[in-house]
Amino acid sequence: MNDKIAVIGAGMMGGAIVKSLLKSGYSGKITAVDIQPERLKEQEKLGASVSTDNRKAAADADVIFICVKPNNVENVLKQINNEVKGKLVISIAATVPLKFLKKFVPDAKIVRIMPNVAALVQASYTAYCCGENVTQKDKEKVKSLLNRMGVCEEVDEKYMDAITALTGSGPGYISIIIEALMYAGLKVGLPRNVALYGAAQTVLGTGKLVLDLQEHPAKVKDMVTTPGGTTIEAIYELEGSSIRQSLMRAVEEAAKKSQRIREALGVNSE
Ligand SMILES: NC(=O)c1ccc[n+]([C@@H]2O[C@H](COP(=O)([O-])OP(=O)(O)OC[C@H]3O[C@@H](n4cnc5c(N)ncnc54)[C@H](OP(=O)(O)O)[C@@H]3O)[C@@H](O)[C@H]2O)c1
Repeated sequence: MNDKIAVIGAGMMGGAIVKSLLKSGYSGKITAVDIQPERLKEQEKLGASVSTDNRKAAADADVIFICVKPNNVENVLKQINNEVKGKLVISIAATVPLKFLKKFVPDAKIVRIMPNVAALVQASYTAYCCGENVTQKDKEKVKSLLNRMGVCEEVDEKYMDAITALTGSGPGYISIIIEALMYAGLKVGLPRNVALYGAAQTVLGTGKLVLDLQEHPAKVKDMVTTPGGTTIEAIYELEGSSIRQSLMRAVEEAAKKSQRIREALGVNSE
């Protein structure tokens, strides 16, 4: 596949998408577009074409990623509308529904995705949902692009707020866990670099184990808990804390916030 790609909004996530596509060896032209020329310098150095003109970049592309904040989506879509007939327009904007996107680019094939920042290291979990006119062939194209950033899964649009709260924001929660484990390592006397490396690799390894075993995570907990051993002492402490409830509440609050953002934007989710 060597479709020409434009990524409009080269901030944190748009930049991550450009970088991960380049890193994956994507052979088509990739253009990073932003209103802030200084944001484009890094992408240019890495090998992307750059532009500050959304309309021109969309006209020159086959697939257009929209990576601006939700409140800038409408403006960008109005600018590119005449250039995207029959093209794939892939929005990463949290909270913004397909129906709203379609209003401004009615002739495009619209896909709404929710990646996460682990796209930077080709390890994003990306959920996607598609407009009605997106064909099976288009979906294959979308999947092959998203798989360059990690793994992807098609979901019903009704799950997108929950996905945003769980996996879009997820690296934020896991960072707190890694940081807490690193400090726990310092508390028991480990050198800082050993504590950080050990904590981060343990999170990575445990995730991989759960996925590879295709088991409930409790199975992994059982695997490391020797009767009368050290781990059960730690687990006993954790089970007396509110760690589970805190994570559940955090994700629930993030999901509720999507609706409030839509209301503030005057966007109907129906
Ligand atoms: N951050 C995440 O982890 C994450 C994860 C999943 C999805 N998302 C979604 O990704 C989108 C971008 O988030 P982000 O965190 O990457 O934001 P960001 O870092 O602020 O990046 C957005 C970029 O777009 C630029 N921009 C604004 N208006 C523009 C326009 N009209 N044309 C071209 N460029 C324009 C911004 O410039 P200015 O700074 O001058 O406005 C900024 O450089 C959001 O919709 C968010 O919901 C984010």
